[in-house]
Amino acid sequence: MKNILVTGGAGFIGSAFVRHMVTTYPEYNFVCYDKLTYAGNIDNLLPVSDEENYRFERGDVADRASVRRVLQQYAIDTIVNFAAESHVDRSILDPDAFIHTDVVGVYILLDEGRKHGIGRFCQVSTDEVYGDIDEGLSLEDDRFLPNSPYAASKASGELMARAYCVTYGMDTVITRGSNTYGPYQYPEKLIPFFTTEAIDDRPLPLYGDGRQIRDWLYVDDHARGVDRVLHAGESGEAYNLAGENQRYNLEITRRILEILGKPQSLIRFVPDREGHDRRYAMSAAKARALGWRLTFDFEAGLEATINWYRENEWWWRKIKTGDYLDYYKHQYAERLESAQR
Ligand code: NAD
Ligand code: TYD
Repeated sequence: MKNILVTGGAGFIGSAFVRHMVTTYPEYNFVCYDKLTYAGNIDNLLPVSDEENYRFERGDVADRASVRRVLQQYAIDTIVNFAAESHVDRSILDPDAFIHTDVVGVYILLDEGRKHGIGRFCQVSTDEVYGDIDEGLSLEDDRFLPNSPYAASKASGELMARAYCVTYGMDTVITRGSNTYGPYQYPEKLIPFFTTEAIDDRPLPLYGDGRQIRDWLYVDDHARGVDRVLHAGESGEAYNLAGENQRYNLEITRRILEILGKPQSLIRFVPDREGHDRRYAMSAAKARALGWRLTFDFEAGLEATINWYRENEWWWRKIKTGDYLDYYKHQYAERLESAQR
């Protein structure tokens, strides 16, 4: 029997992980601990809300007293930390919340986890810690060269996990996922943002020349990768969870419009993101050696994702109101005014 605390489990990838784990491991108990920030959404957990082995607790990972109470109340022995501020553009506008959650929050979880005597601690991280890769594939021992406040905050969280492993002998593992897509992703990230905008015949603001490359991973494969590393990863090690599927942003944007049957003229080339990384690409060989396999091919995954947004307007229409519209205006209004077709 394991009692697993999943922090940030109401977000995009965390909720996919909870949905996967709760049904795959009825012998484990799961507590989702989430602050429910703008990106957290209890609707993402509706499919498991009535399951016997699932509980939800609202709280901040940087709130020491609250973390301690939950660890004790549920006799937690394992932590999987998805909680993060996760959007690069927001980190450029204001890094503050990123330091709070992605740096201080990880430290508090590690520190309270150690004092409570937990077993495994899995820190969910990102390929962005490696920074811009001109060519080839990032390997786990490559150096960190994060370029955005988001990437730097994630690198800091990882380094603290490493220090707790080396110094205090804590059992930590790290996953570094590549750009993830799928259902329930907050519509500020490229694929859900462009899909929902295109459904409404609105312009798609592509940064710079649209020739940046990302490596895309389907969310359920990401969730299964974290499961694999949690169960089979070696203590103190990091594992790349790479989609091994590199695409130009422009190519993805064109494909979204094709699948939706919308005109390519919705594309607008807008002024670039500051410090924009050109390319991410990782090798997944080390995670594969643990037995992790990709099960979704990009074409099928993208179509399934777009169909999900088409069929689940109830989920995203209520998000794209209020504060979301303020953020949209701040991020895109001026850019779109100086846009090129
Ligand atoms: P998300 O923004 O959808 O969800 C983040 C979740 O964390 C939300 O539910 C939010 O309410 C919660 N949260 C934020 N601050 C918190 C706090 N202080 N205390 C408790 N909960 C808090 O993010 P996501 O896309 O699901 O990413 C999950 C993790 O995976 C993050 O650590 C991210 O860095 C990492 N990651 C994401 C991607 C990607 O493409 N989305 C790729 C690789 C790694
Ligand atoms: P994003 O989904 O924000 O993920 P990340 O920055 O973590 O890679 O962006 C993916 C790519 O799409 C990235 O190169 C930036 C680009 N992009 C745009 O061109 N326009 C947009 O409006 C957004 C949100 C992203």
